[in-house]
Amino acid sequence: NIKNIDAYQIYDSRGYPTLEVEVLLEDGTTGYGLVPSGASTGQFEAWELRDGTASKFRGKSVYNAIDNVKVEIAKALSGVNVFEQEEIDKKMIALDGTPNKSRLGANAILGTSMAVANAAANAKNQKLYEYLGNGQGHLIPLNEIQILGGGAHADWATDIQDFLVIAIGAKSYEETLEMTHNIYHAAGEVMKEKGKCVGIADEGGWWPDYSNNEEPFEVFMEAIKRAGYEAGKDVALSLDIAASDLFDGENYHLRLENKKLTPDEFYEMMKMWCEKYPIISIEDPFADTEFDYWKKFTQEFGHRVQIIGDDLFTTNIKRIKEGIAQKLANSVLIKLNQIGTVSETLEAIALTQKAGWLPVVSARSGETEDAFISHLAVATNAGQLKVGSFARSERMVKWNENLRIQRHLGEKATFIGGEIYENIFT
Ligand code: PGA
Ligand code: ZN
Repeated sequence: NIKNIDAYQIYDSRGYPTLEVEVLLEDGTTGYGLVPSGASTGQFEAWELRDGTASKFRGKSVYNAIDNVKVEIAKALSGVNVFEQEEIDKKMIALDGTPNKSRLGANAILGTSMAVANAAANAKNQKLYEYLGNGQGHLIPLNEIQILGGGAHADWATDIQDFLVIAIGAKSYEETLEMTHNIYHAAGEVMKEKGKCVGIADEGGWWPDYSNNEEPFEVFMEAIKRAGYEAGKDVALSLDIAASDLFDGENYHLRLENKKLTPDEFYEMMKMWCEKYPIISIEDPFADTEFDYWKKFTQEFGHRVQIIGDDLFTTNIKRIKEGIAQKLANSVLIKLNQIGTVSETLEAIALTQKAGWLPVVSARSGETEDAFISHLAVATNAGQLKVGSFARSERMVKWNENLRIQRHLGEKATFIGGEIYENIFT
């Protein structure tokens, strides 16, 4: 049973304050929860409680969320059975009393929820993936890895937020990492030769200096070739457009080209890219309110492109249900802190899978040194993991953890790679 819950301020990969929660059990077992934080957040996400006091960390401190854990949440969960994750999460949701967890803070609730899961796994002497998956998790995910960063993660160096690679032809998890390594470094080389690399963006991808949105595609294709791979066969492109960030309610703004596109023109651009380049996956191609465009695009490309809703669904069960009913996409991005508890996240994944869609477990642009999501991906046999780029330890810790999980699974580990898409492509 839970003896005590404590919380304190730590710092994320951007150096912004976040919180860590410690759950202490009566037998002395502990578990920790480290909370990530997004930058291009969706309007339907659960509420991240920040103090907003200009004199404290420029408004970014999370002392109120920490107090909420130490006082209200700790009191409500004292003596509760740590293995009752769902009950515990429900208790916190009821205690908060708001639809978006804004009173106690989704960060306070999630940190506790993750710490509870970790403490429970430790108490059973299990790895987190075993505990979360009731021993059913065995699928090592296919990685979706960022090569170039843009949008809100690189001061709008490109209008597209993420240019990513998926090693669809890899025969093993190790091979996905090798292929990504080779392409990531080839892309850096190509960009440096042309004087187009400014540095590294928030998620570890290269921060480019371009004047239009076509250039990064050319670099990408050249990097794949230079690394010795065939685009469309060995590896495919994946984009996160994060289109809600471009949309003003009427038009899409391309800052880089100083252009405004109507929704119809924007649709045509998405279509053109999916026809011109070997794109296997596209995330948030339209704003989170533009259902008709999502629907049309899924009808047109859903048989050969994974269409992921991130800001569209925000890991929210109600929104995912509506999306499934309306056939808005064929995949859901899964982020723990968009919804704020471990059990709701597990429910969102199960719901997605039951509909015959694919979940993609994802990190945030502001990450920590924790690898909870690697365990979550394997526990649920989600099949895909998106963690930013192939650099910086807050990213690498997730890729590396999957190597450890695979080793721990031994014979039971499976890897199906690009075959995962057979589930949605018809
Ligand atoms: P965020 O970006 O964590 O800044 O929201 C990640 C994404 O859009 O997928
Ligand atoms: Zn996204």
